[in-house]
Amino acid sequence: MKKPVKVAITGAAGQIAYSLIFRVASGSMLGPDQPVILQLLDIPDSLEKLKGTVMEIEDCAFPLVSGVVATADPMEAFDGTDYGLLVGARPRGPGMERKDLLEANAKIFSVQGKALSEKASRDVKVLVVGNPANTNALITASNAKKLDPKQITAMVRLDHNRAISQLAAKTGTSGNDIDKVIIWGNHSATQYPDISHTTIAGKAAKSLVSQEWVEKDFIPTVQQRGAAIIKARGLSSAASAASAAVDHMRDWALGTNGKWVSMGIPSDGSYGIAPGVVYGYPVTCANGKYEIVQGLSVDEFSRARMSVTETELREERAAIEELLK
Ligand code: NAI
Repeated sequence: MKKPVKVAITGAAGQIAYSLIFRVASGSMLGPDQPVILQLLDIPDSLEKLKGTVMEIEDCAFPLVSGVVATADPMEAFDGTDYGLLVGARPRGPGMERKDLLEANAKIFSVQGKALSEKASRDVKVLVVGNPANTNALITASNAKKLDPKQITAMVRLDHNRAISQLAAKTGTSGNDIDKVIIWGNHSATQYPDISHTTIAGKAAKSLVSQEWVEKDFIPTVQQRGAAIIKARGLSSAASAASAAVDHMRDWALGTNGKWVSMGIPSDGSYGIAPGVVYGYPVTCANGKYEIVQGLSVDEFSRARMSVTETELREERAAIEELLK
């Protein structure tokens, strides 16, 4: 057996964590031979509820769980952390404007960025799930001054997975047949699910579906899927969000064998996107690192959509600019 690694999960008493913790504990994220110490963080008011989740973790008797910490102190939760899954966030309350929401979250993620910077492993890999995920990742990175900003990523993998399943359903194929889907930009309704380079069982996706379907059906369905789930379930997506978080971290840590996945990462200016904003890009992962897929052609249709979602991210960044210093 390998030496245990520390996995911190924030928002640990919430609904995504209720699915995520058990997937991580069973080995879905880091493999069946990697023991984990779970470091669970929530706010003081949620600690009693978190106690119940910890009792259930105990009752699973997972062979891979070497320890569990439950705390409301980020410095304790991120102590020596190798993998940080930042799920907890402030939801939008009644009458709350977008700027208020950005600011409320900016405060949470500044504190957590500082704690990660002080306490986490120097090689920590961080995934921000809590919304607005891309800008929360930017704030975390700006406050984690002792870490490389590339260590802090945001989740667009749920959108990526949704795009694959919509395409599979439309073409009567399986997700396994589908390669090279891209989610550009923000995890929000402005995201751009792009199938320009996608292949389905080796054939160009664009030769199998109409442009009309892409524009009128596929793109809006993927963009609005979160809202559709809330309408149907009365609650936001939780199991699928947890599953996407597991996919994102597993691929980053263990590699994609050349397969493209989408990750929200700090822009280095690739594809003309403003440097610094945390933007969804196509990447491949190997040896614990991700690399942007370079050299793709971008037609006018794609460029317009990539710009819309970039503009939204620049506006989000502008709204919390003072907190980035
Ligand atoms: P939830 O409301 O069930 O749980 C959130 C938990 O976070 C609560 O237990 C709360 O006490 C905790 N929390 C709040 N502030 C915290 C802090 N400062 N430190 C630690 N914990 C804190 O919410 P749910 O459904 O689990 O969703 C969590 C977040 O994930 C939301 O922001 C949601 O919008 C986002 N999300 C992101 C997705 C993505 O694709 N990026 C997909 C689905 C949800």
